[in-house]
Amino acid sequence: MDKGSPIIRLAVFGSPVAHSLSPRIHDQFARQLGLRVDYQAIEATAEVFPQRVRELHESGGRGCNVTVPLKQIAWTLAANCSDNAARARAANTLVFDGGIFADNTDGQGLVNDLLTQPGTCLEGARICLLGAGGAAAGILAALLREQPERIVIANRTPDRAHELARRHDDLGYLETCAFMDVGAQGPFDLVINATSQGHQGTAPRLPAGCLAPGGLCYDLNYGAAAAPFRQACAGAGLRYADGLGMLVAQAALSFELWTGKQPDVKPVLQALQG
Ligand code: ATR
Repeated sequence: MDKGSPIIRLAVFGSPVAHSLSPRIHDQFARQLGLRVDYQAIEATAEVFPQRVRELHESGGRGCNVTVPLKQIAWTLAANCSDNAARARAANTLVFDGGIFADNTDGQGLVNDLLTQPGTCLEGARICLLGAGGAAAGILAALLREQPERIVIANRTPDRAHELARRHDDLGYLETCAFMDVGAQGPFDLVINATSQGHQGTAPRLPAGCLAPGGLCYDLNYGAAAAPFRQACAGAGLRYADGLGMLVAQAALSFELWTGKQPDVKPVLQALQG
């Protein structure tokens, strides 16, 4: 590491944020690439968040990550944004480049992690997206760009699924259905749990035959919130992956936006899994 190089100041804002793995992930990226990075986890309510971002920006920070429940506000703070952020109406990454640029690396992070799963190909895949809230909105554009055969958005509140589909209809054809009708829509090669049910200790119910042979169930959650869906999939004998790989992959894309350097996600993910 070049001890004389300037320290790159970064942060993640959220509430709660004390449990965030992001400081650990970005410290490891920095070490890999020989960069001096100071990455802080900063607790912020919606009321103080815009001011905290301004402070980091004005004091020479390079950018920040943003997590629940501030992603939608983050997007409104930026003068310019990527297409992914505009479609999600939410940002997980702000880059201070004179002004503020908003991006959303969640979707590409998911895609990058999915493509590391053995036997998973997104082109031509039949995908079921469970949920139509903020988490689903953050990944849909990136999934569509991989040219799956079909994506069915299944949500408890069908109107929310329709609205999400409408916002993406120029990128590809999307189908929607009510949560309870998902069994009639399958089989799917990939079922993505983008609901927040895991935080309530419950999991979406997957009807028998919903997943095609060799298919994968993927949870955007990780840690304790992923336990209910993991257990449900194990009980039904379904192949499963949690969202830890997506977390590291989206972080790597953010890191690259701030530093221009591409970290290696593999050893960082292995360290978190170990
Ligand atoms: P997030 O930002 O985590 O996506 P959100 O925007 O509140 O949070 O969205 C939560 C998603 O989980 C929604 O799709 C929600 O369904 P509704 O749109 O019908 O509210 C879904 N969800 C949450 N709890 C659920 C439950 N108990 N059963 C089914 N779906 C649930």
